Amino acid sequence: MAETGIVPSADSDTAPAYPTVRTGCPLDLPPRVGELREERPVARVTLWDGSRPWLVTRYDDSRQALRDPRLSADLHRPGFPFISPVQKLQQNQDLPVGFLRMDPPEHTRQRRMLIPEFIVKRMERIRPEVDALVASLLDDMTRSGSSADLVGSFALPLPSLVICRLLGVPYQDHDFFQEQSRLMLDQTAGVDQVLAARAELRDYFDRLAVHKAARPDDDLLSRLVAEQEAPGHLTHDEVVGMAAVLLVAGHETTANMIGIGVLNLLETPDQWAALCEDPGLVPGAVEELLRHQTIIHTGLPRVATEDLEIGGVTVRAGEGVLIQLASANRDPRVFDAPDRLDVRHPPRRHLAFGFGVHQCLGLPLARVELQSALTGLVRELPGLTITKSLDELAFRHRMNVYGPVELPVTW
Ligand code: HEM
Repeated sequence: MAETGIVPSADSDTAPAYPTVRTGCPLDLPPRVGELREERPVARVTLWDGSRPWLVTRYDDSRQALRDPRLSADLHRPGFPFISPVQKLQQNQDLPVGFLRMDPPEHTRQRRMLIPEFIVKRMERIRPEVDALVASLLDDMTRSGSSADLVGSFALPLPSLVICRLLGVPYQDHDFFQEQSRLMLDQTAGVDQVLAARAELRDYFDRLAVHKAARPDDDLLSRLVAEQEAPGHLTHDEVVGMAAVLLVAGHETTANMIGIGVLNLLETPDQWAALCEDPGLVPGAVEELLRHQTIIHTGLPRVATEDLEIGGVTVRAGEGVLIQLASANRDPRVFDAPDRLDVRHPPRRHLAFGFGVHQCLGLPLARVELQSALTGLVRELPGLTITKSLDELAFRHRMNVYGPVELPVTW
């Protein structure tokens, strides 16, 4: 969708196209989003299908909206905003959508089944294993030469290996499921392509879940089958849907965050140097990178179930809302010099993982992976250099999760 360049007026009938393509620096949001945050922080925007949800761009409004039970995440409700035709497909399918797109109480019931799998204590227990994977991937990379694509050799395989181990998915199938996951998040993919990808991923997990029922192992999918499917808390289809969501959410997000995080640091060399000098800064740097490069860069979709107010604007029941986390995380009302990356001053609170009942379930895992990846890189490859300039690199503008397509590096 082309950008209109229209500055919105006070007239609510004038709704500019939803600005998603970064026309300026690829490490900054579309300039239009920043303008809206200052001029009309809750503004109507027009989507590809002519629908006109409200775009929320300030931090306080976003937090308030995300914890408001009158804003539903249920995509079957009329008025739910879909940012691409491919996303709308999900509404017309009989397939289980996963609890990300459900409301309490069913959302709460399903999410509770997974909470023990991702709590901080459990994730801290796997940290040594993640560190070992980081070391081994870096070792493979450096042994095979002095240049590589950091996305393909490191940023993607790391979270993919980790989520496979947790779920009990054979990593040797990674070419297959990485391609299906990519397609499912691609707003430009053809409808047939996405339907085929969904069906293939479902079939894959269908077979795997049947296998786990017969030969259970010490993994999440085996536990879901034994503890939730067998006693009838979840249907077989729901287990399959849940596993597919975890696989996609578990590697696409962290992979892109590692890619864009490293790129961001190398583009601000003093920040990279600070981490190489003191790797103890890494945990704070991860939070600052999450804030500065919020990879879930298209607004979180919700629909109002009642009339309500956001930032002084009345949103009517049945109207869609998009909560722009990436813009909220650059709100100058909350963060000093928000466009500057400063690893020595991590933010106290950011919205990169969302907020409220749907806040990222995999947050403790993502933190362990990001901290481990960055520590490994600054310790082992302090001379890391990108061999292309920012304008030569391709970015995932039309994907739900933003990041560089590839990152050619030397060390
Ligand atoms: C840097 C990495 C990650 C980022 C930035 C991220 C971001 C997010 C965001 C913003 C949401 C909220 C969506 C909404 O409210 O509509 C979310 C939800 C979710 N994330 Fe993550 N995520 C990351 C990694 C992970 C990982 C590693 C997993 C592991 C399985 C995961 C699993 C989930 C799940 C299951 C939900 C749905 C939670 C619910 O609806 O209750 N995420 N994530």
